[in-house]
Amino acid sequence: MSPGIIARVVRLIGAGGVALAVLLTGWAWLSSRMPDTYSVTELHARAQVHAHEPVPTHSVTDFVADKATDADVRVELVARTNGNRLTFNGTSPGPTIRARQGDLVEVVLHNQDVPDGATVHWHGVDVPNAMDGVAGVTQDAVHPGESFTYRFVAEQVGTFWYHSHQISHQQVIRGLLGVFVIEPAGATMPDAVALLHTYPGESRSLNGALGEVRQDARPGEPVRVRVVNTDNSPTVVWVAEGPYRLLAIDGTDVVEPTEVSGRKVTLTAGARVDLEVRVPQSGATRVQAPGVSLVLGPPGAAAPQSPAPAEFLDPLSYGTPAPLGFDPTDPDLEYEYRIGRRPGFLGGRPGYWWTINGKMGRNVPAFMVDQGDIVVVRLSNRSGEVHPMHLHGHHYVVLERNGVAATGSPWWVDSLNVENGDDFVIAFVADNPGIWMDHCHNLPHAREGLMTHLMYNGVDTAFLLGRRSGNEPE
Ligand code: C2O
Ligand code: CU
Repeated sequence: MSPGIIARVVRLIGAGGVALAVLLTGWAWLSSRMPDTYSVTELHARAQVHAHEPVPTHSVTDFVADKATDADVRVELVARTNGNRLTFNGTSPGPTIRARQGDLVEVVLHNQDVPDGATVHWHGVDVPNAMDGVAGVTQDAVHPGESFTYRFVAEQVGTFWYHSHQISHQQVIRGLLGVFVIEPAGATMPDAVALLHTYPGESRSLNGALGEVRQDARPGEPVRVRVVNTDNSPTVVWVAEGPYRLLAIDGTDVVEPTEVSGRKVTLTAGARVDLEVRVPQSGATRVQAPGVSLVLGPPGAAAPQSPAPAEFLDPLSYGTPAPLGFDPTDPDLEYEYRIGRRPGFLGGRPGYWWTINGKMGRNVPAFMVDQGDIVVVRLSNRSGEVHPMHLHGHHYVVLERNGVAATGSPWWVDSLNVENGDDFVIAFVADNPGIWMDHCHNLPHAREGLMTHLMYNGVDTAFLLGRRSGNEPE
């Protein structure tokens, strides 16, 4: 062949290659675009894990609390815009809602003027699915002038929080959130709430205040400090003086928590810990997180600050083992939840997006279960960043982290700090039928695609997602 012909062939192949690349990219872009409206069951239609017989027999709205029971606790929450802040009943954080175990809780959300609409999600509370507050999945966003009533039985004792699940990456940080406490029916020790939150452009606050917050407590008295991390990133907390006990994680009591000193506790985004601290006979005690602290003691009593300890309290080996109530060694199904990252198109936008099991956007798998299934999940992260993973409607127990089996009190969580490089084995019982979000609680990450659903076979939803639906859970 003459050099002229060879050059022509090379040019042709080159042009063909470019054309092919353009076609493939165009196809990737087109197929990543979302329709104007779609249902979450359609969303995952092509990518379900463990699906069978997709014949819906229930709607998410079937799963409600007993309609005949009267409410024991009744609260009205008015969502309002206040400059860049969004408030419940004029404040952010909104009111701390308290119930006793077994109470029927009724919360009426009124949206006064939040233009995008709002909802209330009960983070960590395994409510019936219709009460989960996810716009476009379990209800429509509540638009200005509208209301929605949440009703559920407060079955789990513990520290929880509530927040809007409509455009949550904006509405939560701007203030649509508050603490929800379920107390046991008997006598309780005095408690204090410490909600950590960073409003846009500000430094971190505790219960809405910057720096130091004080609460009166008597000398020698034990206090249960309920720490809630509502930020997008993990944080640490520690007690400046003296020993403390880690009484509960994500609302579940630790079995036989021992006293520790000189250790900090990690709270991933969305997570809670209850710490038992004791007020000294003279002076006060101080619970700290970077930038803020809660001082407990008589008015004016001094409490020294201390830098964060170097060592962590590791829940994997803290407390005493106890029966789980189910057998995870013989699961009904196992699935992988592999978090990664790669370039591609998400909703028509090019970027370097999070992936779940290598997929993004409409190809992200939904995890299908049947009621009663014992499920083991292998959760790993190779995405280069930490992710606070949160499953709605269920709690899971950590069996293993990075090849090391759990040896402490059963470590039940609803929000788990998954560092880059981590491999967790976790297990749960599918005992709360519905369609549940299973996402990263660094809420901008959820928006960037780190989000999927746990769906029960046979459950459908009539609520719609998509640009024209008015619903954007995230
Ligand atoms: Cu704190 Cu999907 O929620
Ligand atoms: Cu994330």
